[in-house]
Amino acid sequence: MVPHSLALLLLLAAAGARAEWNPAEVELEVAFEEESERAAAYEDLVLKYAPYLRPEPITRSEITPPFSLRTQEGLDDFCFPHNASDYFRVRDADDWSRQCNMDYATIHADEVPTYWHAMECGRHLHIAYWSFYGYNHNCDCCSGERNAWWEFLVVKVREWSTNPHMHEVMFGQKEGWYTRIAGNYELHDESHPVAYVGRAGHGFYHDSGGSNTCCYYEDTRNPGRVSALVGSLLSIC
Ligand SMILES: *[C@@H]1O[C@H](CO)[C@@H](O)[C@H](O)[C@H]1NC(C)=O
Repeated sequence: MVPHSLALLLLLAAAGARAEWNPAEVELEVAFEEESERAAAYEDLVLKYAPYLRPEPITRSEITPPFSLRTQEGLDDFCFPHNASDYFRVRDADDWSRQCNMDYATIHADEVPTYWHAMECGRHLHIAYWSFYGYNHNCDCCSGERNAWWEFLVVKVREWSTNPHMHEVMFGQKEGWYTRIAGNYELHDESHPVAYVGRAGHGFYHDSGGSNTCCYYEDTRNPGRVSALVGSLLSIC
C-alpha cells in the first residue's frame, strides 16, 4: 500500500512529466500568466498618465452672471461626454432623437466611461484615451453639428517595462491631430498631461484659445480649473 502523501507526489511527478512531453500545453500556461501580469502593468500606467481636463465640467447652477464662462461644456446646452453603450442601445431601439448628455450628475457619479486602449510599439507603450459624445453642436453660428463622435488623446510611455516615463502626447480633434513632446504641455500632479477641451467640437488641445469658428484649431476652450479625467476608465481591447 502506498502512503497517501507519496501517492500525491507520484501524481504530481506524472503530471509534470506529461507537461514536459507536451511543450505546447506548458507554453500556453506560461503565456497566460505573462498576459495577466502585462495587463496589470498596463492598467497601472493607464491610471498614472490619464489626462486631466481643463476646464473642469461645471453645471449651470455654479455659474453666476456675467457668465464669463458661458462657453463651457454643459452650458448653453452643450454636451458632456456620453456613455457609448447607452447611445448604442438607444439607436438600436430605433430612437433617432438627439443624445446630448447635459446631466453633470452622470459625470460626477462616474457613469460615463473614458475608454482606453494600450499597445506596445517596440520598447514603448502607447495609451489612447477616448471620450465619446452623443452630439456636437454647431461650431459657429450655423454649421458643424453632428451626432456620435469620439475624441482621442494618446500618451506615449517610453521604456514602459524598464524605466517608464511619459514623453510625447498626441492631441486629437475632429479635423486632425498634433504631437507635443515633454516640456511642451502642462502637467498636473507630475504625471498627468492636461488637455483643454473644445466647447462645441470637444477636441483635445494643449492650450486655451479659439475663436468660436469652425476653422481648425479655433474651437473655443477656456482655461477654467483642472479636474481629473471625467468618468471611470474602461478598457476597450
Ligand atoms: C454604460 O451603459 C451601459 C449600458 O446601458 C451600462 O451597462 C454601463 O454600466 C454604463 N457604464 C457606466 C460606467 O455606468
